[in-house]
Amino acid sequence: MTDIRRLAGRVALITGGGGEIGSAIAKRMSREGAKIVVGDLDPAKSEATAKTICAEGGDAISVCIDVRLEDSAKAAVEATIAAFDKLTILVNVAAAVTPDGNAETLSLDLWENAIRVNLTGSFIMCKYGVPEIRKAGGGAIINIASQLGHLSVAGRSPYCTTKAALIKYTEVLAMDYARDNIRANTISPGFILTERSSKRSGGKEIASRIQGPKHLLNRPGSVDDIAAGAAYLASDDAAFVTGTDLLIDGGYVTFKGVIGAEGLPTM
Ligand SMILES: NC(=O)c1ccc[n+]([C@@H]2O[C@H](COP(=O)([O-])OP(=O)(O)OC[C@H]3O[C@@H](n4cnc5c(N)ncnc54)[C@H](O)[C@@H]3O)[C@@H](O)[C@H]2O)c1
Repeated sequence: MTDIRRLAGRVALITGGGGEIGSAIAKRMSREGAKIVVGDLDPAKSEATAKTICAEGGDAISVCIDVRLEDSAKAAVEATIAAFDKLTILVNVAAAVTPDGNAETLSLDLWENAIRVNLTGSFIMCKYGVPEIRKAGGGAIINIASQLGHLSVAGRSPYCTTKAALIKYTEVLAMDYARDNIRANTISPGFILTERSSKRSGGKEIASRIQGPKHLLNRPGSVDDIAAGAAYLASDDAAFVTGTDLLIDGGYVTFKGVIGAEGLPTM
């Protein structure tokens, strides 16, 4: 729990806000004083997040959004302005589920859908979000990338490629809009213990055992680790931070070894 309110007076639109990391970001930003618009493809999930925030005394609405579609993104931004008069923080969390495969086994449809959600989705959101953030006098865009945007894993080309491209896209966003007082940064999480990430290992407990030792800090990350970073990047504490990628990965990218039996890094 935090009692700092660095985001009072701000309005945040969060895509994928019904998911585990998105919902943690939404709740953290609300506790820090922001009004929240929770957007998700799954309306039940975004409604649940918004309801929790309101029950905690925050101010939130939910919108059903498909970041692949311009009309949907535009409607979400319009709903934000209608509810809270402005937009100052845009957080792009939504990501497609990308099955494993290679050039021969992945269908073109799967490849294109990954690009459409993970990369183009952020572009579309910015297309409609940026003019409103500028109108509000500036703000922050945070795109959720991945440690796998830095590293490469066999069988995961759509995910690794789109996350690497999202980091590059965000650097250029920062350059395009610095003069409008709009900061743009990515967060690259390490392995964060969520249903989605744990599925390929067969559940959270096994995933924790397998993935933990891949991190220098010898544990998977939590959704709150990422929410704390997002709140920081959205706040004036990060007023001089733009065009960067914040690795919140327990040292995953730095450390390419394995944690030994004594809990110490080995190579
Ligand atoms: N969990 C991890 O280990 C991890 C590691 C690195 C990066 N990430 C990134 O963090 C983000 C959240 O991951 P998570 O584990 O919380 O997953 P999650 O599945 O819980 O959340 C993703 C949300 O995005 C929504 N979504 C999917 N397609 C959408 C679309 N077209 N339009 C709008 N919403 C859509 C889903 O409904 C879901 O609620 C993703 O961008 C993921 O790539 C996660």
